[in-house]
Amino acid sequence: MKAAIYPGSFDPMTLGHLDVIQRASKMFDQLTVSVLDNKAKNALFSVEERVNILREATKDLPNVTVDSFDGLLIDYAKEKNIHVSVRGLRAITDFEYELQIAQTNRKLSNGALDTVFLTTSLEYAYLSSSSVKEIASFHGDISQCVPDFVVNLVKAKFEKK
Ligand code: PNS
Repeated sequence: MKAAIYPGSFDPMTLGHLDVIQRASKMFDQLTVSVLDNKAKNALFSVEERVNILREATKDLPNVTVDSFDGLLIDYAKEKNIHVSVRGLRAITDFEYELQIAQTNRKLSNGALDTVFLTTSLEYAYLSSSSVKEIASFHGDISQCVPDFVVNLVKAKFEKK
């Protein structure tokens, strides 16, 4: 069985992430989307909220499961017996960062964890979770950036602030 992990912060999940999930779910028998529980980062959504958003967005994809992890990705992947990490590449600016992570993971895992890159669909190439948060913080329109049910969840976070 071909299994892969799609790790990330997903704070929040965007349509660009969803596009990668949908495409990767067709390439692998099992895809685990996993939210990094990064205590050092001041996230907008809790890990539980991010997991719930991903679960709702992927409920019609039977071979996709959503989980969270902390610590090193290679340790999590070993525990799950998964040998492929999926990451999206939007532009050349992502490349250096992604190359470093991919090579670090491959080296640290002695080759056990490799990375497959999917180039983001052009319509989502401009999208990032950071820009969604920035637009929402100024009460701008994020309806083309995240699924409909996520729009109000993001807005609510900034109404409280
Ligand atoms: O969505 P992001 O924030 O770009 O995702 C980054 C992520 C989660 C893939 C990366 O930070 C990660 O895997 N962190 C876990 C810690 C780790 O394994 N670090 C070693 C690789 S540099």
